[in-house]
Amino acid sequence: MARILHEQTPTQQWWNHAVIYQIYPRSFASRHGQIGDLPGIIDHLGYLADLGIDAVWLSPFYLSPQKDAGYDVADYYRVDPMFGTNDDAIALINAVHEHGLRIIVDMVPNHTSDQHVWFQAALADPNSPQRQYYWFRDGKPDNHQPPNDWGSIFGSRAWTRVCDRADAPGSPWENDTQWYLHLFDSSQPDLNWDSPEVRAEFCNILRYWLDLGVDGFRVDVAHGLCKDPELPDWQFHWDMVSGGSKVPGDVPPPPQWNRPEVHEIYREWRAVLDEYGPDRALVAEAWVDNLDDMAKFVRADEMSQAFNFDFLCSPFTVNAYRTSIRESLRAMDNVGAPTTWVLSNHDVVRVVSRMGLVETGKGPNGIRPTDPQPDAQLGMQRGLAAHLLQAGLPGSCYIYQGEELALPEHTGLSDDIRQDPAYFRTRGVEAGRDGCRIPMPWNSQLPGFGFSPSGETWLPQPEEWRDLAVDVQLSRSDSTLALFRRLFAARAELRMAQAQLCEVEEDSPWLHYISRHDTRDDVHILTVFDTPTPLPTGAEIIISSRALDEPTAPGESYTVPCNCTVWFTLSS
Ligand code: NOJ
Repeated sequence: MARILHEQTPTQQWWNHAVIYQIYPRSFASRHGQIGDLPGIIDHLGYLADLGIDAVWLSPFYLSPQKDAGYDVADYYRVDPMFGTNDDAIALINAVHEHGLRIIVDMVPNHTSDQHVWFQAALADPNSPQRQYYWFRDGKPDNHQPPNDWGSIFGSRAWTRVCDRADAPGSPWENDTQWYLHLFDSSQPDLNWDSPEVRAEFCNILRYWLDLGVDGFRVDVAHGLCKDPELPDWQFHWDMVSGGSKVPGDVPPPPQWNRPEVHEIYREWRAVLDEYGPDRALVAEAWVDNLDDMAKFVRADEMSQAFNFDFLCSPFTVNAYRTSIRESLRAMDNVGAPTTWVLSNHDVVRVVSRMGLVETGKGPNGIRPTDPQPDAQLGMQRGLAAHLLQAGLPGSCYIYQGEELALPEHTGLSDDIRQDPAYFRTRGVEAGRDGCRIPMPWNSQLPGFGFSPSGETWLPQPEEWRDLAVDVQLSRSDSTLALFRRLFAARAELRMAQAQLCEVEEDSPWLHYISRHDTRDDVHILTVFDTPTPLPTGAEIIISSRALDEPTAPGESYTVPCNCTVWFTLSS
């Protein structure tokens, strides 16, 4: 008996069903230099429209010293000259719309750059109002110890003493012995969201970009904005990628993560977005390890989507996927929100490499040449199987630039060119995220694979990417790019995102779902893990993530090999 996991939904707001493509601007395409820029994105919008996506999300392009690749914003109202101008941003927003797509931009409210005027004013004068916009505190009794034991997500402690900053000698703050809080890099001081001025200013920032026509915001570190004002010790560690604590057992709720007060902020933001109509989206980047907690971010009066990091971090096993899919649909349906499937982004090892490791799941923070290398073929098979599965499920799904080309992680980078602050703050213990942020290969025949006019790229591309470049894949009907185009076309045509989902067997070694919509025949989605499985007789294949094994005798059906997803119908 098939069990219903999710009911058919009418077509609702666009984000309930959309395929959203993440653009990492510095690595997408450049019209000018070795770093990607906004005009470079405009040049490839036709490519994205042809891929069959509905919207793009851009990682930050605001003025920034780039200590954390733009997640350290110095001016939220200004495009960094490295990426172009505000006029380029307006041109991009308009061009995206002309292509029939929507555009979500990143908003980084947990912290500013230390170069932001607020923080500079706070440093210059301890009595300035801006001092209250951040978390400045005296240290432990002798002031040589930080105010509490919190660690930075990027490694080491979450506090820096003002007088210990590199810019302190000779500055007005050279004798300032207070500490300031930064849950990420010391160049990213945390904002104090108890401050009414901070709250009001972010509403202004949202309105500025909404006035320019953006369709929504992806909210960085959405679970981190509020802190217990007592700033108590905690003694555990929160991972950026999986959330939760590395320490098993009874962990008290963290004083700095996933506090209930954050939800008031998003209710206020929702009201701001609603001033522009009902179709503006808020997307939570909230690495909380409990799906019911994640669902709280997408209650009706809050945000629109929350990335399903539970699915991203699930090992590629039948049990892990079955549980994650069931539980995700249950938790999001409880609050009437779409499940937002995601397999990769600019913070994790690329999916086709992660899935080629002995242990699949959230994966390490970067892979070095000296680390065990992923099995490329296995990773590709599993990665594509996971993509066909997620695209068949109800809800929305994200795709990170280059996933449509099955780009692997660059595991050959040398340490001397790494840029991720996590590499430096862990003193090299973690390689960091540079390997998933390599500039896109557009043209196999040009230097830098056509990324920039001069062929320069801010990080080197692996030579193996030549065969994966867009021009090569566009010329082949059996390429991954061609598969993704067919996949997104079929997903839209068959209304997979709006359909009812039934789970066919509840303890089989494969996953078998029926996607049911009253406008068409049932579509079966079958993901095979370790046990090759014959298709039922009469199965008509819609799409499969790899070639199926041919029947060996007349009357027999195709067999689905290991690590493969297939969509099919059954003739009645
Ligand atoms: C999450 C972003 O995705 C990541 O790239 C960044 O380093 C941290 N937030 C800090 O802003």
